[in-house]
Amino acid sequence: MGLLLKIFIPLLGVALAFYLYSAPMNFSEEMLRGKRVIVTGASSGIGEQMAYHLARMEAHLLLTARTEAKLQKVVERCLKLGAASASYVSGSMEDTAFAEVVVREAENTWGGLDMLILNHIGRTYFNYFNGDVEHVRKLLETNFLSYVAMTVSALPMLKESEGSIVVVSSLAGKTSSPFAAPYSATKFALDGFFGSLRNEFIIEKVNVSITLCILGYINTENAVRAVSHVIQDTPAPKEDCALQIIQGAALRQREVHYPPRLVSILLLLRAFAPEFLDSLTRNNYKVENIQRT
Ligand SMILES: NC(=O)c1ccc[n+]([C@@H]2O[C@H](COP(=O)([O-])OP(=O)(O)OC[C@H]3O[C@@H](n4cnc5c(N)ncnc54)[C@H](OP(=O)(O)O)[C@@H]3O)[C@@H](O)[C@H]2O)c1
Ligand SMILES: *[C@@H]1O[C@H](CO)[C@@H](O)[C@H](O)[C@H]1NC(C)=O
Ligand SMILES: *[C@@H]1O[C@H](CO)[C@@H](O)[C@H](O)[C@H]1NC(C)=O
Repeated sequence: MGLLLKIFIPLLGVALAFYLYSAPMNFSEEMLRGKRVIVTGASSGIGEQMAYHLARMEAHLLLTARTEAKLQKVVERCLKLGAASASYVSGSMEDTAFAEVVVREAENTWGGLDMLILNHIGRTYFNYFNGDVEHVRKLLETNFLSYVAMTVSALPMLKESEGSIVVVSSLAGKTSSPFAAPYSATKFALDGFFGSLRNEFIIEKVNVSITLCILGYINTENAVRAVSHVIQDTPAPKEDCALQIIQGAALRQREVHYPPRLVSILLLLRAFAPEFLDSLTRNNYKVENIQRT
């Protein structure tokens, strides 16, 4: 009996503590109800789908992209789906001043912010690197610097609300595949910047979560148009992709992988057999369909 008390009870305690500590939190749609969320690149593709999910979950939405006519339609649909409120600001993220305008708009209407979803990307080419340094600079402004500028502007509000930053990246931001040199560079930059920031938040006990989303090939119109003649894999559905991003963000996960298994396996391969992964990628591409421009 003495032995039992001395060993079994403490062991049980440790096991229970471990279980309670590690029991995964479950997602529920209420987590987003009434939350104030900015979604960038929300006029089409994955950003548009995230807006619809958030609307169904009764969040407050501020959407942004360049094309006003598309944003108007997305806002209308969000209101029908049940958004607590929905509005938009249109403009180009090539200009980091616009990034600050969007955050100020949230501050003026809500006086706070719970989630910043950074998702937009500028137009680029899918082809051999053409030596255009100006294009790389421009793409860095749109795909990377505007993310930094929005984060800086939004941080006081996010600290106040113990909110979340969601950064939408790509397998091309973790592994190097051909024909996407400028794009890949901007996505790798996001990993470095936001990974460093996450560590600083932990050191300084800033309770703002950072979720980096590593996406494979998704069936958005623009992506399919850009790569389907070279990449023959079936793209994953944008609706489910958008939902998985929101769930991961609400659960304050470090990373979201989508499609989950495929991305996780490729990242493991990259860690243990990078040259093998590179050759797999090259062999999977219909390189003969790339016309040098
Ligand atoms: N689809 C994929 O296969 C895939 C794979 C990996 C990662 N991702 C990532 O997922 C995210 C969304 O991709 P997606 O396929 O949904 O893209 P998408 O359909 O092309 O949407 C891009 C969004 O960004 C906006 N945008 C474009 N240029 C802009 C600018 N200069 N300033 C502000 N907004 C601008 C677009 O609207 P306007 O044209 O109206 O401005 C649109 O709302 C991106 O971060 C992308 O890198 C996608
Ligand atoms: C999450 O859901 C599972 C299965 O529905 C359940 O067994 C578990 O207790 C839930 N965890 C929490 C933290 O609520
Ligand atoms: C951080 O914020 C989240 C969301 O408000 C909360 O659930 C969590 O308990 C907070 N963590 C700490 C350590 O304060």
